[in-house]
Amino acid sequence: MPEEVLLALNPISGGRYTDGTVGLGGHAAAILRRSAPDGWLYGCDHDQEAVRASVERLAEFAGRFEIRRGSFAELADWVPAGDCDGVLLDLGMSSWQLDRPERGFSFMQDGPLDMRMDDRQARTAADLVNNELPDELINIFRRYGDEPNARKIAGAIENFRTATPFETTKQLADLISQTCPRYGRKKHPATRVFQALRIAVNNEMAVLADGLESAMTILKPGGRLAVISFHSLEDRMVKVFGRRWERDYEVPGDVDIPELRRPVPPRLRRVNRKAICPTADEITANPRSRSAQLRVFEKI
Ligand SMILES: C[S@@+](CC[C@H](N)C(=O)[O-])C[C@H]1O[C@@H](n2cnc3c(N)ncnc32)[C@H](O)[C@@H]1O
Repeated sequence: MPEEVLLALNPISGGRYTDGTVGLGGHAAAILRRSAPDGWLYGCDHDQEAVRASVERLAEFAGRFEIRRGSFAELADWVPAGDCDGVLLDLGMSSWQLDRPERGFSFMQDGPLDMRMDDRQARTAADLVNNELPDELINIFRRYGDEPNARKIAGAIENFRTATPFETTKQLADLISQTCPRYGRKKHPATRVFQALRIAVNNEMAVLADGLESAMTILKPGGRLAVISFHSLEDRMVKVFGRRWERDYEVPGDVDIPELRRPVPPRLRRVNRKAICPTADEITANPRSRSAQLRVFEKI
């Protein structure tokens, strides 16, 4: 949603921006172009290939950006606090990551059961599927994939792995298809389990929570945060984050007991009450964008 992101961040000459998910540099290039001649961009991606590709793509803006390999959860460790007019987090994976069988994200193509976004990390999806207790697998499939057949699938995995450890995406996708046949359903039966494993392998929910906090630290007052999420878990976390920071009170602990609230000044405001969704034209041009939701906040 490049146009919507530009509208949200409104890059201007001399402005300072951060793209925490620089990917192939599409949004980053749009921000740099719009903030010419002297807007500045910090960028990061924890995928080494993305860093290489984006630096190449942004060559025409040399001298106006700094891209580092790393997680957006750590942005506040190197981007100065209160420095940015706008921060973008375009969550999830790029199409090129999904389309490469060797990355192991896709159940449509055979490859190693890997799913690490950052290959410096030790634990792969195969490690998880081969070693986690069945109850923990059930928990992962339910919590991160909303998988109704979590118990059945975890049981089938347990039986399978006692004979042969999982190594490939196809082994797992085939086992799930046999365990829970498609019966004319549109979605592949492995969709939810693959999503759940990817979230667990990359610890995506905890990283997103840290990333949102980090973004608030590097924004200046009046600066804007734009977050594009691709599934309901992410969007819920972004929504809850927005609600918490826009309140004029703090809640000690997890339960909101009105008598225990402590007054604090609100720290952000929502720019749009509802999430912004891609236009029909964008969905036609890029069907994977259909589940994207953009939320925009302004730091007070
Ligand atoms: C949807 S793509 C972004 C595409 C990008 N906006 C563009 O215009 O090309 C998501 C990117 O975020 C990266 N990513 C996901 N989680 C990340 C994290 N915690 N820290 C840094 N990068 C992350 C992925 O590696 C991927 O390259």
